[in-house]
Amino acid sequence: MGNLLENKTGIIFGALDERSIAWKVAQKAHENGAKFILTNAPIALRMGKINELAEKCGTEVIPADATSMDDLNTLFEQSQEKLGGKLDFVLHSIGMSPNVRKNKGYTDLNHDWYLKTLDISALSFHKTMQVAYKQDAMNDWGSILGLSYIAAQEAYPFYSDMADAKAALESIARSFGYHFGIKNKVRVNTISQSPTVTSAGSGIAGFDKFFDFANEMSPLGNADAESCADYCLTLFSDLTRYVTMQNLYHDGGYSTTGISGKIMEKWDK
Ligand SMILES: NC(=O)c1ccc[n+]([C@@H]2O[C@H](COP(=O)([O-])OP(=O)(O)OC[C@H]3O[C@@H](n4cnc5c(N)ncnc54)[C@H](O)[C@@H]3O)[C@@H](O)[C@H]2O)c1
Repeated sequence: MGNLLENKTGIIFGALDERSIAWKVAQKAHENGAKFILTNAPIALRMGKINELAEKCGTEVIPADATSMDDLNTLFEQSQEKLGGKLDFVLHSIGMSPNVRKNKGYTDLNHDWYLKTLDISALSFHKTMQVAYKQDAMNDWGSILGLSYIAAQEAYPFYSDMADAKAALESIARSFGYHFGIKNKVRVNTISQSPTVTSAGSGIAGFDKFFDFANEMSPLGNADAESCADYCLTLFSDLTRYVTMQNLYHDGGYSTTGISGKIMEKWDK
């Protein structure tokens, strides 16, 4: 509880159920005084529980497929109307790969699905920002955030085409961050999060094993969804106004650990 986001308004994409990172961000943003619109793809509204969350946060849901410019334009127009003006923050917490879902490995990709992966998981970040930019929807010193994974930098074979999508997502944050910074001091970053038990996370083949591996590699252990939400809040707050165009690791130290004692013990003969 606090008032870190008092008087701030925004849009939160990607809350599907209570495990979702976006769900935790919405809960904490609400507790910290923010007002926001929740959004998700129309199909997720039918399958998920987002209306429950909206009720708890005293807000409403505007459906939008984040790959559709029409949907995004309507979402940003209606959100500004309902929230009474321009926005201070946007959370893009979206990821989906038909190849991962259907267990297609990287050397056997369906390329139509690969395009879908890129559209949903990376280009949608650009589309969202282009709409916000053209509608002049962000307040000065606003903050836009996407969620990434370390497979953007290193080979994680099980992550299939999502690795390429995350590399594009992080690049889009840098490229759009430049233009949004010049336009009106809006910052754009990605958080590279530990493996996290959510619908998207646990849908990846071998998730349990790489979750445990990362947990034993990281000096602090894996960061959970709740802590990720805390970090998101700091990046929406006024305490991080000059952090932009960064990919920020939120992973308990995993990304800069070569080997840990716990992993070494596993090789004891
Ligand atoms: N879970 C992990 O291990 C992990 C690790 C690092 C990064 N991430 C990233 O965190 C973000 C959130 O994922 P999560 O783990 O909370 O899982 P999640 O499944 O709860 O969230 C993914 C969301 O994407 C939404 N989505 C899919 N297609 C969409 C579309 N066309 N338009 C709008 N929304 C769409 C889904 O409905 C869902 O709400 C994703 O970018 C994911 O890649 C997750």
